[in-house]
Amino acid sequence: MNDKLIVALDYATEQDAMALVNQLGDAVSYYKVGLELFLNTRGSVVDLIKAQNKNVFLDLKFHDIPNTVAQAVAWAASLGVDMFTLHSSGGEEMMRKSVETVNETCERLNVKRPNMVGVTILTSFDEAGIAKVGYKNNIADTVLNLAGLCKTSGMNGIVCSPHEAANIKAACGSDFITVCPGIRPAWAAAGDQKRITTPADAIRIGVDHMVVGRPITKAEHPYEAALKIMEEIGGVTK
Ligand code: C5P
Repeated sequence: MNDKLIVALDYATEQDAMALVNQLGDAVSYYKVGLELFLNTRGSVVDLIKAQNKNVFLDLKFHDIPNTVAQAVAWAASLGVDMFTLHSSGGEEMMRKSVETVNETCERLNVKRPNMVGVTILTSFDEAGIAKVGYKNNIADTVLNLAGLCKTSGMNGIVCSPHEAANIKAACGSDFITVCPGIRPAWAAAGDQKRITTPADAIRIGVDHMVVGRPITKAEHPYEAALKIMEEIGGVTK
């Protein structure tokens, strides 16, 4: 099944999240679980989604000293999720140690190894914001540099804007996974996302996974909205 579309379950409760998963049925195979839903359900929502034979993208954005993150990601891997995030600004040692621990854990438990993707500069930052934090380069250069760190640390890819995806693929290789939010079909409201791309254009750019929330979760008919996006994606040849 097409796993390019990841629907963001931006809900607080298991009931709301699973109601959407059930409603979308066969139209969607991949779901993002973030901090709010994971914490409020004490993680149990992951098992519920996996029990429906769906993929889970666990977006907890780990960032701490190498030893602490490496221990935490072993537990993330043991949940059987398909992909999860680390903050690439945690550095090469943090990412490399985490990759090693995940490899060992998955082998020991005989579970599928999840893809590990690095968060670079959050889209909530603008140039002035990252300068204040102390970054010396602009956002585009900083993102490329962090993508390179992810690559050399053995990570599988990064979270980025679709606008950055082509450059990152050129620098890190076509098999380096790009996971992109900021996707808006022509018929959906932009909301607070500023630099947006349609699903069809994201596929043309070469994005591997697009994370879509409100165009589906807030649609009057979420199933029809998801189907329309799948049709749009399916109709594109790169
Ligand atoms: O509703 P919308 O389609 O904007 O949701 C996009 C999803 O991607 C949300 O879960 C949001 O938190 C997430 N995200 C983002 N920008 C990032 C990282 C994650 O919009 N840089």
